[in-house]
Amino acid sequence: MDAVCARAQFHAENPVVVDATLGGAGHAAALVGLMPPGGVFLGIDRDPEALVRGRDRLAAARCTVHLHHGEFSELPEVLERHGVPKIDFLLADLGVSSFQLDEAGRGFSFAADGPLDMRMNPEAGETLLEKLASVEYADLASILRRFGEEPAAGPIARSILRALEQDQLHSTADLAAAVTRVVPAFTRNLHPATKTFQALRIWVNGELEEVEALLEAVPDLLAPGGRMLVISFHSLEDRLAKQAFAKLCHPERDIPSWVPLTRDQMPKARFRTEGPIGPDAGEIEANPRSRSAKLRVLWALEDAT
Ligand SMILES: C[S@@+](CC[C@H](N)C(=O)[O-])C[C@H]1O[C@@H](n2cnc3c(N)ncnc32)[C@H](O)[C@@H]1O
Repeated sequence: MDAVCARAQFHAENPVVVDATLGGAGHAAALVGLMPPGGVFLGIDRDPEALVRGRDRLAAARCTVHLHHGEFSELPEVLERHGVPKIDFLLADLGVSSFQLDEAGRGFSFAADGPLDMRMNPEAGETLLEKLASVEYADLASILRRFGEEPAAGPIARSILRALEQDQLHSTADLAAAVTRVVPAFTRNLHPATKTFQALRIWVNGELEEVEALLEAVPDLLAPGGRMLVISFHSLEDRLAKQAFAKLCHPERDIPSWVPLTRDQMPKARFRTEGPIGPDAGEIEANPRSRSAKLRVLWALEDAT
């Protein structure tokens, strides 16, 4: 939180601030508290519950507040609808909210038994159970490998599909049991089903495609001096941000080495990057889930032409 607020000094008189992942609106409330009355705040979340919380927490805001229910990949259209051409500050705090994880009925957690749902937007798309009903073994194994970096992807995929066939897969506890049947041991204090749950959640919500779309759209939407902050909780998302930011900060790397350009003719970077920045001890103590968080920042240079 401190690292985010420290980067929220606005040069524009009436800054435009976007929280692309409103969640419980903790960051949003802190950001809005730093904004002048002429500023515009836009909060986005695909979970309608987040908008209810946001409306409540931001009720006393001095600036203009717009809340949008939908995906952050729709950002360019949402900004256009609100007549906002450029952004001074954007935060994407990726992953799931604490309230989503803690509510057993959402099906995100093996710690509390719940339905096999995992949709961040419970009003759209297929639930985990619906998706599992039509997935092939090879595809499921590949999902666990790619999105969970799970070394036992094959045996776990087989065990999940066997449980489904035998009508023994109805809840998150059944799913965790299907994993522990083939990978019983805890490693580094991680529950054996941690990576499987992460992979399936990313799959159900198309999370990486969403992040890619956001990383593609935002750089062109940043005002001079504007910045984009990405907080990620696993290496897949962090890698996407790291690679996208590095490409923007080093446009010369796209020029093949055989093209004869002098130093002055090389394309100039319009951005600089900062990070990864981890949470400090106080933050970890206040919120143990922030332990694995990494913050990366993309700054649009003020004098870029
Ligand atoms: C880690 S939480 C954000 C927590 C928030 N920063 C706070 O202070 O409470 C991530 C939130 O982003 C939302 N989210 C994830 N992917 C999204 C997407 N593609 N579009 C819109 N919202 C998304 C989730 O529903 C969740 O509420």
